[in-house]
Amino acid sequence: QCNVDDNVRFDCFPEDGVTQSKCEARGCCWRLPKSSGNHTTPPRRGGRLLPTQDVPYCFYPSDYPTYSLSNLKETDYGYTGDLRRSTHSYYPKDIMQLKLDVYFETNTRLHFKIYDANSQRYEVPIETPKVTKKVPRPNYEVDFVHEPFSLRVARFDSGQGMNETLFNTNITRSFMFTDQFIQISSILPTSYIYGLGEHRAGFLHSLNWTRLTMWARDIPPVVFLGPSPDQVIQQYTEVIGRPFMPPYWSLGFHLCRWGYGSSDKTQQVVEKMRKAGIPQDGQWNDIDYMDKHLDWTYDKTNFSGLSDVVKDLHDHGQHYVNIIDPGISNQQPKGSYAPYDDGLSIGAFITFANGSLVKGQVWPGETVYPDFTNPVTKVWWTAEAKAYHDKINYDGLWIDMNEPSNFVDGSILGCPDNSYEHPPYTPDVLGDKLSAFTVCVSAKQYWSTHYNVHNLYGMSEMIASHDALANIRGKRPLVISRSTFPSSGKYGGHWLGDNNSLWKDMWYSIPGILNFNLFGIPLVGADICGFGGTTTEELCQRWQQLGAFYPFSRNHNTLGSKDQDPTSFSPAMQKSTRDILLIRYSLLPYLYTLFHKGHVTGSTIVRPLFFEFSMDQEAFTIDRQFLWGSSLLISPVLEENATSVNAYFPADTWYDFYTGTRVTSQPSKGKMITLDAPLDKLNLHVRGGRILPTQDPNTTTTASRNNKYGLIVAMSMGSVANGELFWDDGDTLSTYENGKYIFMKFSAVDNKITSTVIKNGYPYADKMELGSTRVFGVAKQPTSVSANGKAATFTYDSKTQMLTVSDMSLPMKVPINITWK
Ligand code: NOJ
Repeated sequence: QCNVDDNVRFDCFPEDGVTQSKCEARGCCWRLPKSSGNHTTPPRRGGRLLPTQDVPYCFYPSDYPTYSLSNLKETDYGYTGDLRRSTHSYYPKDIMQLKLDVYFETNTRLHFKIYDANSQRYEVPIETPKVTKKVPRPNYEVDFVHEPFSLRVARFDSGQGMNETLFNTNITRSFMFTDQFIQISSILPTSYIYGLGEHRAGFLHSLNWTRLTMWARDIPPVVFLGPSPDQVIQQYTEVIGRPFMPPYWSLGFHLCRWGYGSSDKTQQVVEKMRKAGIPQDGQWNDIDYMDKHLDWTYDKTNFSGLSDVVKDLHDHGQHYVNIIDPGISNQQPKGSYAPYDDGLSIGAFITFANGSLVKGQVWPGETVYPDFTNPVTKVWWTAEAKAYHDKINYDGLWIDMNEPSNFVDGSILGCPDNSYEHPPYTPDVLGDKLSAFTVCVSAKQYWSTHYNVHNLYGMSEMIASHDALANIRGKRPLVISRSTFPSSGKYGGHWLGDNNSLWKDMWYSIPGILNFNLFGIPLVGADICGFGGTTTEELCQRWQQLGAFYPFSRNHNTLGSKDQDPTSFSPAMQKSTRDILLIRYSLLPYLYTLFHKGHVTGSTIVRPLFFEFSMDQEAFTIDRQFLWGSSLLISPVLEENATSVNAYFPADTWYDFYTGTRVTSQPSKGKMITLDAPLDKLNLHVRGGRILPTQDPNTTTTASRNNKYGLIVAMSMGSVANGELFWDDGDTLSTYENGKYIFMKFSAVDNKITSTVIKNGYPYADKMELGSTRVFGVAKQPTSVSANGKAATFTYDSKTQMLTVSDMSLPMKVPINITWK
């Protein structure tokens, strides 16, 4: 029974401190793995046993007692069955009788749920589709083993019957369902695993006994069939909710730092940016704007001019965002701090089971924590946000510290001694206990015990903040949150938290933004130039180039470190930042259209290369380049002193964004190419067969939105290309849902570009005009070009094969027709 291959051993002692006797007391096998050499105990690292960092020494025998399946019946929605075990496992409170429900929800989505047959347990309160009828011919099949219970899901191919297994729990007898420990295992169908929560690492996960911790996560497992990777995400966001439509201005460049120290300094930075002509849409303030770090206040001495700063930003078509933390000070004299007094009077804060407040410590000192899952708290939060908005006319909320963070473990009085605080198994969390750096997990919240809703804290604050902003401003809200959960993308975006001014951290930001696109939270970016430490000019310049292609583009740094806004560097660095940001701004119509697609279909905005080239194994490991949608390839420099970059081009036609030169066009095989990358250049390539809508840029989106549009037409080898544009006023709520938008498709075939207006409900469509158009891959020198029947001026470069049609001011709400001979 212990004769189990090293690589299919399943760890029977995932916690620290395993020994042979402790292992055998669980009825498990203790064997040295082949790779152990002379080690008779698992290796220690940093004084801690890390048994799962390698082949487990302690693992389940092949006859370990588990559940059996009985009464399996077909139902309208799929199957139902009973799971029973007769012997106890080694963790307390086994649930001896379980129910299994299998829902054939859509052709590409199977959902199975295993739950306590006799009592109601906590379930994550996220709205997901409720399906009561099974689909007749799904693209999958499910089969079961009754004794011991296991379940297998396979992609179904009608030609060949069951083929590719996607999920199979028949690996070891490790399925366990106890009150505080649930375990299910599957054989992996592939060695290419991505995603699985926010982690600071490369994109592709190592399968070398990697353990990823996401504590307090209790969501029923669901399987999505794709088959393409982007379809997997579309199917996933159909369940958790599609991403929100960001306000257009939020796609501009943002600037922040902790420690401007005054409204004057904040104003000066904005003015320096304007003077340098560097695009900026958002100016942000960190906690130093607050009076003694108190939420919904500002420092009346150092930030006395704050409302003027905000007014000046608005006068210049710019926006203002401030930070808000969840911790509310309970130390202010009664009657002097309404957020606490009001919150207390309505019961807005988290308490212990006995009703006393959970008190922790954050920036303002001792604090209490709002329970955003409580409807009364949402009302209170909106009222506080409104009262502050009446003083400082902010446009968005940056919500930080919402894990929730606590500088003392649990509370200033510690935590009660109970099974929530001391579960039989503690996952591998920072600080080794669930309440480390956060609140006591046995604390009470409206939705459930904090133990159950811990990971939802950030999202519940996002919902409250999103709704408050929509209510107060009546416009599309911008909420950027540090803590997120599946579904958070419906309410806002995310930044990747406290990175450092290091080249490695710049690279990590790429897997970071790719991951959040998998999670349905596409408005994401990292602190450009790094939060902690001191950047160098070179690092910051390269990071500004990369960050110009983060969906959410913000430079931010920590208290006490040197200024790192672009104007604090040399004129050459400023120019390079200005140029790349102007390119971002010129491409915003394309980015915005991608966000629209994401909002409506769930498709990703930023994509790893294999999302578009899923048959190309070379692409599976690439996390130093990424795509905007399907069409624009970004290949940044991520190393110091580099003047070239090795970039992978999957099999297709690719053009240099700047010159229009065809770089490569391989029909069947991808290719690594070394590209020149002098300090002031970010390599960008457009995929053949695509049309990108653009707009002449300005230094704010408010200004650039008045400019003419453009098209980049990149011909395929067969001389065709397609693209589309979604446009609305960029700020009104639910424009798509209310039909207040324009949507058009572009198509190019041989020597002709046309457009079709699919929907025109945008009130200002009359003002939209097409300016100049660039066409890549025009093999023959044209002799004449006409635009909507009139002769147009043009230039043609025979070396690069780029045709540029000059501005003809073509109205965009009617079909466009550009031809050349
Ligand atoms: C932590 C955040 O991650 C960081 O961005 C912020 O500057 C500090 N808190 C101070 O508010």
